[in-house]
Amino acid sequence: MSAIDVALKIFRQLEPEDIKILHAVETQTKQYQYIPEERISPKTKLPPSEVQYRLPNLTKNHLLQHQTKPYKGYHLTTSGYDCLALNAHVKANILEAIGKPLGVGKEADVYDALTPTNQQVAIKFHRLGRTSFQQTKRKRNYTQQYTYTPNWHQQSTLAAKKEYKALKLLQPYNVTAPKPIHHSRHTLVMTLINGAPLNLYPKIPHPQKILNEILNNVKKTYHKANIIHADLSPYNILIQQDLHILIIDWPQYVPTNHPNAQQLLKRDLKNILDFFKRKEEIKLTLKEALNYVRET
Ligand SMILES: Nc1ncnc2c1ncn2[C@@H]1O[C@H](COP(=O)(O)OP(=O)(O)OP(=O)(O)O)[C@@H](O)[C@H]1O
Ligand SMILES: [Mg+2]
Repeated sequence: MSAIDVALKIFRQLEPEDIKILHAVETQTKQYQYIPEERISPKTKLPPSEVQYRLPNLTKNHLLQHQTKPYKGYHLTTSGYDCLALNAHVKANILEAIGKPLGVGKEADVYDALTPTNQQVAIKFHRLGRTSFQQTKRKRNYTQQYTYTPNWHQQSTLAAKKEYKALKLLQPYNVTAPKPIHHSRHTLVMTLINGAPLNLYPKIPHPQKILNEILNNVKKTYHKANIIHADLSPYNILIQQDLHILIIDWPQYVPTNHPNAQQLLKRDLKNILDFFKRKEEIKLTLKEALNYVRET
């Protein structure tokens, strides 16, 4: 079971007291690797006996991990953080239910979801620092087991915040990207795109038109939002049913005054041009594309 499956299985059964405990653990993660048990209940304002009774259940449900030596202490698991983020989205009236995976990869898991007004949205769980995984065979089920670097949560939270900020910066200029809706911790809720990444198309429909649209969006991003995507590739461009494109996956963006901005812009454009050259024999040079993007 993946971290999010674990979180979703238990999330609806969590009571406000459980959330308080998870939150009390979260607020002390900077001070301790494992938060001492006696430090948890004062932050929850719950009676110590109540906390003592709930901690083993949260551990059993894989939202907390505990150590007994040299002292009794707890820290949050990936699923524990997922539950806190889900709770924040639910509390903000943004999320009602999570549906199926839209993309599960190395650095993020993206799911479709429903708002309380039945609007379909996408939720992205950043998973930076998910270093390795192995498949373990359990009866007939395959489960993926991941290991995380110690500061994965911090890295993932920064990535989610940065991506949210990028989507906010782009919105006023109609750069075709998902619209940001809400963010909490390592997660981000945005509009759902019905489309498939460019790399999945055996043949690109109207390739010249699509390339022009990509370049036009890179130009708007550059001159209006004053940023550069910095991870642009066919994987991060979705084509919708109406054949318009959307650019996703923005956490690595840089401002146009960044020391490496021009280098990153070149790399972004080269990734796209190489793809269109290889696949559709469209021979626009990097110089021509750069000139187009840079000219005002
Ligand atoms: N707003 C969205 N609407 C629909 N699908 C989305 C949306 N955002 C992302 N996806 C799907 O999730 C996949 C991964 O998203 P994204 O590219 O943002 O993450 P990533 O950091 O590249 O993750 P990975 O390591 O999985 O590639 C995309 O290829 C796409 O299929
Ligand atoms: Mg991507």
